[in-house]
Amino acid sequence: HGYFTYDPGFVSTASCESEITYIDGANGVLLHRGFPIEQLATHSNHTEMSYLLLNGEIPDKEAYETFRNSVSRHTMVHEQIVNFFKGFRRDAHPMAVLCGVAGALSAFYHDNLDITQEHDRQVSAIRLIAKMPTLAAMCYKYNIGQPFAYPRNDLDYAENFLYMMFSNPCEEYEINPVAAKAMDRIFMLHADHEQNASTSTVRLAGSTGANPFACISAGIAALWGPAHGGANEAVLNMLAEIGDESEENIQHFVDRAKDKQDAFRLMGFGHRVYRNFDPRARVMKETCDEVLEELGMGDDPQLKIAKRLEQIALEDDYFIERKLYPNVDFYSGIILRALGIPKNMFTVIFAVARTTGWISHWNEMITNGTRIGRPRQLYKGYTQRDYPDQQ
Ligand code: CMC
Repeated sequence: HGYFTYDPGFVSTASCESEITYIDGANGVLLHRGFPIEQLATHSNHTEMSYLLLNGEIPDKEAYETFRNSVSRHTMVHEQIVNFFKGFRRDAHPMAVLCGVAGALSAFYHDNLDITQEHDRQVSAIRLIAKMPTLAAMCYKYNIGQPFAYPRNDLDYAENFLYMMFSNPCEEYEINPVAAKAMDRIFMLHADHEQNASTSTVRLAGSTGANPFACISAGIAALWGPAHGGANEAVLNMLAEIGDESEENIQHFVDRAKDKQDAFRLMGFGHRVYRNFDPRARVMKETCDEVLEELGMGDDPQLKIAKRLEQIALEDDYFIERKLYPNVDFYSGIILRALGIPKNMFTVIFAVARTTGWISHWNEMITNGTRIGRPRQLYKGYTQRDYPDQQ
């Protein structure tokens, strides 16, 4: 009675059992359903990985085709969703818009949805995976004032996303295979990361039996902050603020990050679970080098600043003692910028990718049966007192 563990920030509390993703933070290991992220990033694609996260196995050819076709068939959003976009100021942050329109999907898929049925859960998952790139690209188009582009189901997941982002009715759009491959890899590297803040949010919302589309909207809200998915945008802001590549200047910013009186932190550095290299950051760095080279941007000044910053920090006692290493978002922003994606869209792209993880966790939780998530607190306020007698 009255006894429970106090664990602010949940640093040592396991909130559930899961078979989806394993992280060994001390050794920098990330496995999805047992497969190392490095192998998946090299041999798989986002669609196959979505199947894996959701269903537990790499699909055979037939299962893959069926899954791919189902995702393709569900890429369009209801035309009435356009009205939701029109309610926003055109300069609204795309994450604000995405939160709203993803949540609005719950209005379209609610009355006939029975989440206790495996079939309904699968269809919801497929709808979400299929529609998020469409909504994300619509956020961008609305923001820049161009007409929305309908999805093209002959294209792969990442190709279709780039097509909806960058095509317009006035000219032929040619997909750059280097860009599509990089985009797909960014989706894969962000697809799932066990019980992070946004996934825990989706699980907590889902534990009440709420509509899954509304739960995903809760996850998008949690992802937005700079300590979580907002870090990729924050990294580019930081690199722009650092500005010049001189050694003294970069050192100055590293020193600022160490100063506890200064709010400045190295964005894209540090992680709650990894006390070693984030394995996703290694793959991201390689991808970044490849993409910039192939796009003829190998001399990019921000890439140079990022690399030198990383080097200086990794050799600095402050970062060594605290085991702070680059995380997945240190290099992802540089790739996205090279693909022509503006930085206010970076976290939106993270949300598209993470939808797969969110909905896989939601599905696992509902399948296994769960109690409502309901943390306790350590009450520090007044004990009982009387209402003041004021004349
Ligand atoms: N720059 C400078 N100092 C840092 C940084 C940083 N980026 N990250 C942590 N520290 C220091 C922190 O001040 C503390 O020092 P001390 O022990 O002297 O008080 C120590 O390292 C431990 O940090 P913490 O804040 O207790 O760690 P946490 O687990 O609560 O926070 C984090 C983890 C990711 C929020 C934090 O490292 C951070 O703010 N990083 C920058 C933002 C970022 O890149 N976030 C993306 C995370 S990966 C993508 C995702 O999955 O969302």
